[in-house]
Amino acid sequence: MTLDASLADWRTTIDAALDAVLQPHDDAPAHLVEAMRYAVFSGGKRMRPVLALAACEAVGGSSAHAEPFACALELIHTYSLVHDDLPAMDDDDLRRGRPTVHVAFGEAVAVLTGDALLTAAFRVAAEGGVRSGLAPDRVLAIVTAIAVAAGERGMVGGQALDLDAAGKPADLTLVEAIHRRKTGALLGVAVETGALAGGASGRTLEALRAFGRALGLAFQVADDILDAAPTAVTGKRAGRDAEHQKATYPAVLGVDGARRVACDLKTQCHAALEPLGPAGDQLRALASFVVERATA
Ligand code: IPE
Ligand code: IPE
Ligand code: MG
Ligand code: MG
Ligand code: MG
Repeated sequence: MTLDASLADWRTTIDAALDAVLQPHDDAPAHLVEAMRYAVFSGGKRMRPVLALAACEAVGGSSAHAEPFACALELIHTYSLVHDDLPAMDDDDLRRGRPTVHVAFGEAVAVLTGDALLTAAFRVAAEGGVRSGLAPDRVLAIVTAIAVAAGERGMVGGQALDLDAAGKPADLTLVEAIHRRKTGALLGVAVETGALAGGASGRTLEALRAFGRALGLAFQVADDILDAAPTAVTGKRAGRDAEHQKATYPAVLGVDGARRVACDLKTQCHAALEPLGPAGDQLRALASFVVERATA
């Protein structure tokens, strides 16, 4: 199957699963659920859940086992975007081509929308993980790995470093540390989650971890490069990183230097997949897709 056809299939599966877990509920305020759904169903690329399903299939697993965690990862990612856009953080008014949640629903509701999406992620992972038939110890290992990657040692920690670094001189060591945490950690754990749900262990699991690590950094380097691209391409306002004097790869290395790093990371992704042989083809294509969006 081509990557485009697989992506369409994975996205359909993920969107149906997200729709099922984000239904109105008698106990949940309708405007909060509406804001959660506004944030989630707005045309994201679904890269984290796609990576989880693709990694699960690459190791010969059934993607049904990865699906609840794939949903959880997209919920966590979406919460991170809602909070990232808040006036106290990147202060952005456009996301996925639409007004950001705080513009559409107000700032307080946006904070709570993020809180609710993050919490829902762990409801979905715990409930769905066990219901999918995976062994409880695997569910626990996956949920723990996701929590570590999302929290102060991973994504939230990276966001704190990102805000702290803005407007100050940055070097490559600092930018890499920020990017590995704020973005790399969640993408990496998406790959790991799929691998674990698919039953991977030993050399295959290590290979996929190395792949996820390289891809996670590549993804944020690509996002940095694309920050200057038109809204029609990204769904975001162009040039915000420069306005905020963010610590980015183009700021430290120039655009050409950032592109070279992205291409090197793509090579690292492909090399990491070698032990998988042809089973790694779709992941290989996903790494090319991520990097070539920003470098082609
Ligand atoms: C944007 O993520 C924020 C980063 C962590 C780089 P995506 O580029 O995956 O955004 P969506 O989900 O497709 O909108
Ligand atoms: C965001 O990085 C990382 C997150 C954890 C949300 P950015 O601030 O560069 O993401 P965009 O460019 O706003 O999507
Ligand atoms: Mg940010
Ligand atoms: Mg931002
Ligand atoms: Mg960005």
